[in-house]
Amino acid sequence: MRDRKPFVGGNWKMNTNRTTSAELTRGVVDALAPVTGTDIAIFPPFPYLLAVRSILRDRGSSIQLGAQDCYHKPDGAFTGEVSLDMLKDCGVQTVLAGHSERRHVLGEDDEIVNTKLRAIVEAGLTGVLCIGETLDQRESGHTDPVNQRQLRGGLADVSADALEKIVIAYEPVWAIGTGKTATPEDAQDVHAKLRKLLGQMYNADVAKRTRIIYGGSVKASNAEELFRQPDIDGGLIGGASLKAPEFAGIVKAAAATGSKG
Ligand code: PGA
Repeated sequence: MRDRKPFVGGNWKMNTNRTTSAELTRGVVDALAPVTGTDIAIFPPFPYLLAVRSILRDRGSSIQLGAQDCYHKPDGAFTGEVSLDMLKDCGVQTVLAGHSERRHVLGEDDEIVNTKLRAIVEAGLTGVLCIGETLDQRESGHTDPVNQRQLRGGLADVSADALEKIVIAYEPVWAIGTGKTATPEDAQDVHAKLRKLLGQMYNADVAKRTRIIYGGSVKASNAEELFRQPDIDGGLIGGASLKAPEFAGIVKAAAATGSKG
């Protein structure tokens, strides 16, 4: 049975430009060159994927190239969308599905998130399925049912084998970009419940080997206590991934906690 190697993703969202995306990539590569034992991915905006990829390649970096979204159809009349074949052609290895901003700002529901996730896996790429409750849902006591519904919905018709290529990101919406982080205990509680649910949906092996990462105002200063929790296998980082030393600090915290399982 495979251990759960930590995974840390840097989601740049709609930030950086041609110059700063290149600078940030170089900064991250340099700061993380000595770090091993952790899967690292960066998710630049679409227009900068190729330039970021060539920096990663030139420097022989093992940092994975990620995309923040995709469209599930292979080609055709879908103005403004980007297919998985196009992303693969640009060297993308990992794709986010269902980030809270896609769900809550751009109106994606569990069905479209599931369609995208299945397409990502069928394309042979790694999918990061993002789920998480809003503040209203948490305050009204609906944290568990919301996360269960999003996990079940996102993984509908996804096989146990396909879970090898999927990372689950629990990101409470109220913690994203707000500076408010879930306490390590609260986050651990949700992660443990999600892992238990994976056991019910699939089997004990899938539950044990699937990485569940946390996202929501993770910083270098709070990363280690989060990642030390037994069911937290790394993080999806927004704001703090835009500064190379801060992102590097978070990755190092993940590397320090090591693999679990
Ligand atoms: P944040 O974003 O770290 O800025 O809270 C996390 C995310 O949206 O993935």
